[in-house]
Amino acid sequence: FAARQASQSVFGAVQRRTFSATASNATKVAVLGAAGGIGQPLSLLLKLNPRVTELALYDIKGAPGVAADISHINTKSTVKGYEPSGAGIKECLTGAEIVLIPAGVPRKPGMTRDDLFNTNASIVRDLAKAAADACPEANILVIANPVNSTVPITAEVFKSKGVYNPKRLFGVTTLDVVRASRFISQLKSTDPATENITVVGGHSGATIVPLLSQAGYTLEGAERDEYIKRVQFGGDEVVQAKGGAGSATLSMAMAGARFAESLLKAAQGQSGVVEPTYGQSGVVEPTYVDSPLYKDQGVTYFASQVELGPNGVEKIHPVGDMSEFEQGLLDVCLKDLKSNIEKGEKWVKENM
Ligand code: NAI
Repeated sequence: FAARQASQSVFGAVQRRTFSATASNATKVAVLGAAGGIGQPLSLLLKLNPRVTELALYDIKGAPGVAADISHINTKSTVKGYEPSGAGIKECLTGAEIVLIPAGVPRKPGMTRDDLFNTNASIVRDLAKAAADACPEANILVIANPVNSTVPITAEVFKSKGVYNPKRLFGVTTLDVVRASRFISQLKSTDPATENITVVGGHSGATIVPLLSQAGYTLEGAERDEYIKRVQFGGDEVVQAKGGAGSATLSMAMAGARFAESLLKAAQGQSGVVEPTYGQSGVVEPTYVDSPLYKDQGVTYFASQVELGPNGVEKIHPVGDMSEFEQGLLDVCLKDLKSNIEKGEKWVKENM
């Protein structure tokens, strides 16, 4: 009975908040790759978000079916599916405030995220071109891997069209923080919902650097090594468990929806909204002066805590203090990250 009451109150709350959404904060959100493993649950969660008033779902196949299904959910937002034929991607993107890009192939067992580069680089390039033409001022949230390279690719496409605004380009690294928080709560028997472990660097293997010391935790020996490995390679647990059927989709959908919700809150006037994200370092002057990140070492993109506002990135937080061990992890990260960034930039310049 208690569980039923709780579930009723959750849905009641969703509906009541829906009715308070006004035309003045009408918000169109587009999902590119909406019929995929991430795209479907992500679209579902966005349909449940009362801040979203219009949901535009695009995929090379299957988006109208997903849209028809989701559109029956009794929240106020409208939902429409788009395919390459017909109205297509242009209409899907026109007027969008947020564009999420989970389009692309996922990993199979034994693959690294970089192994996806050859396929996903061109998918992201083409979708970025469409977005730069149709909604140059939208917030672009790149989920497609390898994020360390697909974000620089997106930036170069926007630059080539003269519409690049680094404050509105985000590599979605939220899942790393979700995992880091969940895994420490399992070790320390705390409430995972109240954990918020800072994770910096990039979004693949050794470039993912959790800074446990900033949350007041110290782990030692094998326990520490296992924790770090789990955060850095947590995605592999899912890839292996799915046995070739894909990578993280449901937890990723939750993480993507959380990031979109944070952006919407900030856009609608809430202050102090902070999320981790992978973006261009030093885009917000004069924060760059206080928080140079690692730009002067050639690492021009970096994931760190960012304060969001109506214009996208409001402030990039300094990475902050870290232990000697964490510094060692960061040194490895910076080397890998630099080459991932250069790979993306070089490829897109040769394949624009
Ligand atoms: P999936 O294969 O299930 O879905 C991908 C969808 O993209 C498919 O529906 C496909 O038709 C569509 N698609 C392919 N090319 C397209 C194009 N040119 N335009 C529009 N749609 C297109 O893959 P899944 O599991 O949804 O993963 C998607 C991506 O997200 C992968 O690259 C994966 O590595 C990445 N990912 C990122 C994470 C992160 O933390 N940032 C976490 C987990 C996955």
